Amino acid sequence: MTVPVLTIDGPSGAGKGTVSRLVAKQLGWNYLDSGAIYRSLAIDVLKNNVDFKDVSAVVEVAQKMSLVFECGNELVVKLDGIDITAELPSETTGNTASIIAAYPDVRAVLLQKQKDFQLAPGLVADGRDMGTVVFPDAVNKVYLTASAEERAKRRYKQLIEKGIDANLVQITKEIEARDRRDQERTTAPLKAAEDALYIDSSELSIEQVISEVINLVQ
Ligand code: C5P
Repeated sequence: MTVPVLTIDGPSGAGKGTVSRLVAKQLGWNYLDSGAIYRSLAIDVLKNNVDFKDVSAVVEVAQKMSLVFECGNELVVKLDGIDITAELPSETTGNTASIIAAYPDVRAVLLQKQKDFQLAPGLVADGRDMGTVVFPDAVNKVYLTASAEERAKRRYKQLIEKGIDANLVQITKEIEARDRRDQERTTAPLKAAEDALYIDSSELSIEQVISEVINLVQ
C-alpha cells in the first residue's frame, strides 16, 4: 500500500513549519522539513569555505553530505555527527540556502533524500516544491501563504521575543527578495500545485489553519 503524503508548500514565514509539525503530531505521521535539508547544505558549504557561487563545488558537498534527522519532540539535525540544529534558523543560513536551492543539479542530488522520508503510517512534507516535484502523487496538498507584510511582522516578533535586535523594514525587504528568488528560479519554483488547497493565513490563527488542513485529510 502506498504511504499517504500531505504536502504543505508556501513562502517563508507563512507558518508552514508550525502547522506541519502540529498536523503531523495530530495524525501520528512522520514529518519532513525539506527547508532544513537545504539549510544544512548551506551550513556544510559555509563551514568548508566552499564558494556558494561555484555550482559544481556545491554539488560535490551535497553528494558527500552526511545528514541525520532525529525526529523526537523537537527536530534535531546532525551534520557529520555534529548537532547543527541551533544554526539552522539564522538569516545567513536561510539566504545561502535559497541561493544554492536554485541550482538544478543540487536539487537533483537532494531529491532522493527527501523521498526517503515517505514512511508508514504517513508523511507531512513541508517545503516549496513538495506537491509539484517531490511528491506529485500526494493525495492531499496545501499551499499556505500570507502577505509579505504579515510574514515580516511575524518574523520580527519572533526575533524580538528571542532578544535579537531586528528591523522590520529590513526583514520585509529580505522576505520579498527571498520570495522573488524562490518564485523566479527555473527549476522547481515556488508555486501552488494545481490540485492544492490554497490557504491565506494573514487573518487566521494557527488553530484555524490546522483545523482546515486536518479537515482536508479526513
Ligand atoms: O523553508 P525554509 O525557509 O527553511 O527554506 C530555506 C530555503 O530553502 C528557501 O528559501 C528555499 O530557497 C529553499 N527550499 C527549496 N525547496 C524546498 C524547501 C526549501 O528550494 N522544498
